[in-house]
Amino acid sequence: MEETVIKCKLRVQKHGEVFTPKKIIKKMLDIKGVKEACESLPTTFLEPSAGEGAFLVAILERKLKIVIKHYNDDLVRFENYSLLALTSLYGIELLEDNAQTCVLNMFQVYYDIYQEQVQLHNGKLKKKVLDSAKEIISSNIRQGNFLTRETIDGNPLVFSEWSPINMKKTTKNIKIQRTEYTLDEIYENVEKESGKAINRSINKTTQQQKQLDMFDLLEEDVVESENEIPKEMRYIPVNIIDVYKSEMEEADG
Ligand SMILES: C[S@@+](CC[C@H](N)C(=O)[O-])C[C@H]1O[C@@H](n2cnc3c(N)ncnc32)[C@H](O)[C@@H]1O
Repeated sequence: MEETVIKCKLRVQKHGEVFTPKKIIKKMLDIKGVKEACESLPTTFLEPSAGEGAFLVAILERKLKIVIKHYNDDLVRFENYSLLALTSLYGIELLEDNAQTCVLNMFQVYYDIYQEQVQLHNGKLKKKVLDSAKEIISSNIRQGNFLTRETIDGNPLVFSEWSPINMKKTTKNIKIQRTEYTLDEIYENVEKESGKAINRSINKTTQQQKQLDMFDLLEEDVVESENEIPKEMRYIPVNIIDVYKSEMEEADG
């Protein structure tokens, strides 16, 4: 099947939307230094104009190959390290349809490779692993404007850092500490107490929720009173296969 490089002339003129063909992506990711980075699980990538995720998907495939090679003696280890690989990939995309396709493309690649490994190990797909993959992808791939560092509705773009705790070579069940930063804070190298979450009560109708909606994770809309005083919250360290719960506690509690 032929690849779509251009959707329409207007989108090219307005947003510079030209997708990179797979052949070129392969060549670029094979460049010395980049190739090694794609094969290193902790190395992070941010694609600031992600489109439908052509680069991110290709990097994810490469990272998952490494997981299959080195962390696949049993299914639990594969599940843990494949989710860790996912945490290292970030993207920003201006247009809603592209951002959604990017999220879905990332999930599809994860799902297909996870399913293959499940069959190989005669195991079962675990819902919580898939839900955690969805949580990681939807918080790492954001619809927004990289230049203004804001979402479409004018809130700061927020990303999560996912830091493994006390990880050793023998670790099978990875514990993760999630901490949130705005893109401004990342640029300014702001140091933060680990676990801190960005206060979202400013606007709960938001990009993150819209993206989560795509996965049908939300059971009901969250409506928050404008007068409510926002609470400082922090993420609790959890096993990586439980990040889908987004467990938090009050920061000074
Ligand atoms: C040249 S395309 C590249 C897409 C993808 N990286 C690829 O190689 O296939 C540029 C993408 O950037 C998006 N874009 C344009 N301005 C942007 C901005 N200020 N912030 C984030 N994304 C933007 C466009 O919607 C488009 O999908």
